[in-house]
Amino acid sequence: MTRFASSVTNLRSSEIRDLMSLATAPDIISFAGGMPGNELFPLETLDRIYQSLTEKEKQTALQYGPTTGLPSLLESLSDYLEKKGLPVKSNRLMITTGSLQAIHILAKAFIDPGDPVLVENPGFIGALSAFRAYQANLVSIPLKEDGMDIDQLKKRLETTLPAPKFLYYTPNFHNPAGIIYSRKVKQEMMALLKEREIPVIEDDAYSELYFYDEDLPEMRLMKATDPEGIDVCYTGSFSKILGPGLRLGWMLVPDEIYRKCELIKQSIDACSPSISQMLADKFIRRGDVYNYTANIREEYKKRGLAMIGALEAFLPAYVTFEKPRGGFYTWLQLPEGSNATAILKKAIEKGVVFVTGKTFDPDGIKNDCMRVSFCNTDVETIRRGVPLIAEAIKEMCGP
Ligand SMILES: Cc1ncc(COP(=O)(O)O)c(C=O)c1O
Repeated sequence: MTRFASSVTNLRSSEIRDLMSLATAPDIISFAGGMPGNELFPLETLDRIYQSLTEKEKQTALQYGPTTGLPSLLESLSDYLEKKGLPVKSNRLMITTGSLQAIHILAKAFIDPGDPVLVENPGFIGALSAFRAYQANLVSIPLKEDGMDIDQLKKRLETTLPAPKFLYYTPNFHNPAGIIYSRKVKQEMMALLKEREIPVIEDDAYSELYFYDEDLPEMRLMKATDPEGIDVCYTGSFSKILGPGLRLGWMLVPDEIYRKCELIKQSIDACSPSISQMLADKFIRRGDVYNYTANIREEYKKRGLAMIGALEAFLPAYVTFEKPRGGFYTWLQLPEGSNATAILKKAIEKGVVFVTGKTFDPDGIKNDCMRVSFCNTDVETIRRGVPLIAEAIKEMCGP
């Protein structure tokens, strides 16, 4: 028998992946993916950017680059993040291969096997898997409509020994819960963590995708307040503001953490793709990023509102959800004890898919909830697909 490392022995393909492989009908409607709409990518802009590169820039684009990122992108991205109110000057910025790599590097920097880390329930599966890969003990805090349940956080902090290595959270347009953390919850979290000097990983993949300008003050990041006494490791991504195929993200972290992460990244991939960095740099410098995000905000808002409208029209009253105010996702709460996997099987028969709740439960158990995304389907498809989901729910949970 092949003798794998103990850290990978327990890695399994999720049940959901196996189920999804059954959903092969060519016209299946997918509310499962967390990816941008293909038709929304800025293809012409990228063509123009590539055409405008000098020979020397094209050579740089195909060459290895510095581990921490191309200087030109670090400069333009610093400017971009400063405009968002982030404390770039008092921290260090590193380009990573997707923000998932930033999360992995931070996990590697902090976690020894068995170490407790604080995560949300439900939580982003990519981060949970990364922490599991380093054999962390996931200690989960339930989410409410405005963020983490603070009483539960307090309890976990008081009872978890040894002290958790960090807290990981997703402040805006949560994946999968769709919520925004309120300012109050973030302040209470910071107060609790500061006492205990517990660092935070603030995963901000979606904050450009807000539907309403009026939410911006509430969305202010922990990192933007640069709280004294807490190391906030802020991660972000080009995946939702340009394209995930570029595989570009970043971390903005205190100097000591940056230096450790640089060494870790060197050993992983030496550098992130130079060609992606070159395109992303020009995309920011020419101001394209601002026009593009304004356009996709409008489109995702149309899709999000269509999703809300269809869910309100077709779902039975016993299914509840928070109306998304940005991002990609709606999170449906089914009657307690319902089985989203059985509903998914029914939904696949009807030609529609979503993701079951337990996929996002750090303990892999709670399944009376489901994630329905509206990012990769147009308004008309949303209106056709939601009634099918409602039918599947009613057939399994009652009229
Ligand atoms: C909450 C969250 N964080 C991070 C990521 C990773 O993004 P990427 O590695 O493409 O930058 C995703 C991707 O869906 C996400 O939903």
